[in-house]
Amino acid sequence: MRIVFLGPPGAGKGTQAKLICEEYNIPHISPGDILRQAKKNETVLGLKAKSYMDQGLLVPDDIILGIIEERLKQEDCKTGYVLDGFPRTIYQANALEDMLKGLDTDIAYILSLELSEKELVKRLGGRRVCEDCGQEFHIEFKPPKQPDICDNCGGNLIQRSDASACAIEKRFSEYKEKTSPLIEYYNRPGRKFYSISADTGIQEVFASIKRVLEAD
Ligand code: AP5
Repeated sequence: MRIVFLGPPGAGKGTQAKLICEEYNIPHISPGDILRQAKKNETVLGLKAKSYMDQGLLVPDDIILGIIEERLKQEDCKTGYVLDGFPRTIYQANALEDMLKGLDTDIAYILSLELSEKELVKRLGGRRVCEDCGQEFHIEFKPPKQPDICDNCGGNLIQRSDASACAIEKRFSEYKEKTSPLIEYYNRPGRKFYSISADTGIQEVFASIKRVLEAD
């Protein structure tokens, strides 16, 4: 099962990708997570990506394509995966098609999460992330048992460095200009493209996705 998740920042791509990967036992591939880990470890990749990410800008295509190409060749991707946050430009989508042709596979489902900008802002503003283990929470929709403490490891919960009002605005404008054209790119005959409302609770959205995946 090879799945691409589309959707604006904060729509719930990461949350749903993790649930799907657990349910179907396939790897979750998120360039955002890979880059945040590289930033934390201060690797060359992380240092290159930092200024783009903190400002809410997309990281250059060549950096992202290198990461994805490497990852898709790994053994655990043979049975499928969820691509969360890739592709994000038409250029990346064309490059993905070429990569998959080379591996003699294709994307099975494209799932596009839809949510109003007002709700997106609420989700992004309330998100908290554990600075030690990376577990995500939301102060209203997925609160930790104790405020600002991770349920998983007891680490401190913080906001992501791209959660400032200015970075969020930039992330939305990058999405509109560079990523939203992918909806038209994928929504064409021969493609299993599904637009899914993300305007309900986490489990309800997950149930809608499962209905789509299990209808075949
Ligand atoms: P990335 O990490 O992919 O960020 P994003 O696309 O901006 O998306 P988010 O992670 O903010 O949101 P999400 O849709 O995953 O929502 P989530 O599940 O977390 O990318 C970060 C940066 O990396 C980019 O800006 C760019 O610089 C770089 N990058 C990454 N990929 C790239 C690429 N391909 N090309 C170039 N650059 C790239 O949910 C958000 C919150 O809402 C959480 O708190 C969650 O608990 C809560 N929530 C989720 N679902 C629900 C629900 N149904 N109801 C209530 N609350 C919910």
